[in-house]
Amino acid sequence: MNTTSSQAGKQDKLISPLIDARAKGEKDNFPWSPEVPAYLEKVYWWAYVRPYAVAFFDHEPIVNLILLGNMVKLRDLALDALGQSIQGRTLQIACVYGDFSIRLAQRIAPGGSLDIVDVAASPLENARRKLLPYPAARVMQSDSANLKFADATYDQIVMFFLLHEMPKDVRDKTLSEALRVLKPGGKLVIVDFHKPSKFNPLRYLYPLMFKVLEPFALDIWKHSIAEWLPKDFVPAEYAQETFCGGVYQKVVVRV
Ligand SMILES: C[S@@+](CC[C@H](N)C(=O)[O-])C[C@H]1O[C@@H](n2cnc3c(N)ncnc32)[C@H](O)[C@@H]1O
Repeated sequence: MNTTSSQAGKQDKLISPLIDARAKGEKDNFPWSPEVPAYLEKVYWWAYVRPYAVAFFDHEPIVNLILLGNMVKLRDLALDALGQSIQGRTLQIACVYGDFSIRLAQRIAPGGSLDIVDVAASPLENARRKLLPYPAARVMQSDSANLKFADATYDQIVMFFLLHEMPKDVRDKTLSEALRVLKPGGKLVIVDFHKPSKFNPLRYLYPLMFKVLEPFALDIWKHSIAEWLPKDFVPAEYAQETFCGGVYQKVVVRV
């Protein structure tokens, strides 16, 4: 698919409200009301959808607690896979609590740009506020399963703990969309959960938590991310590493 003027027009419509809001210094008048997918409202209303959820979770100690003290390590694993000075156009799919996006914005090289998409209004507004000091960064509403960007738009894309929160159909479409909007030679970096090694007690504790709070997460234990890539896609490179006794994984896919 090629970029068409109607696609470009759609993109401009999404981006311009933020630029306008910034230019006017309107910090508390977020311009979009995105539609939240049913699974997100049903399963994760308490974590992302309600404004008070974002206000509660978006604190370093809380994020670090959820990631068992590994927030900085995992954040830097993802960011280092993108580079110290990140050239060209970067896309972060889905907002992330803590300082992930700020650190990412700080690594954007002069002339480069960072776009962050999310489907829910509260995380977007929160990210927009955090990123006001970084003019290269902008936030936009988009469902990751149907990205509002032309083919081959981005040089690199990052997803941080997103896939385990999605039902299979959304996960498949999200990966396929990410690969579609990557430029040839571009890189997709994914950091997410992985099945802990045999002697790690978390292997037996996590399923209890997943059962109550994260019903789609066990999929990422049972399957390799490679299995969810489009059937006809042949990566130029696919590299997976696991960390912290197998609890987390980093996958880098080059198109
Ligand atoms: C990146 S994930 C989890 C990140 C991690 N728990 C953290 O915040 O540190 C959470 C975000 O994904 C977003 N999200 C979930 N489904 C989405 C979709 N289909 N399209 C775009 N964003 C989505 C949620 O709205 C939420 O802001």
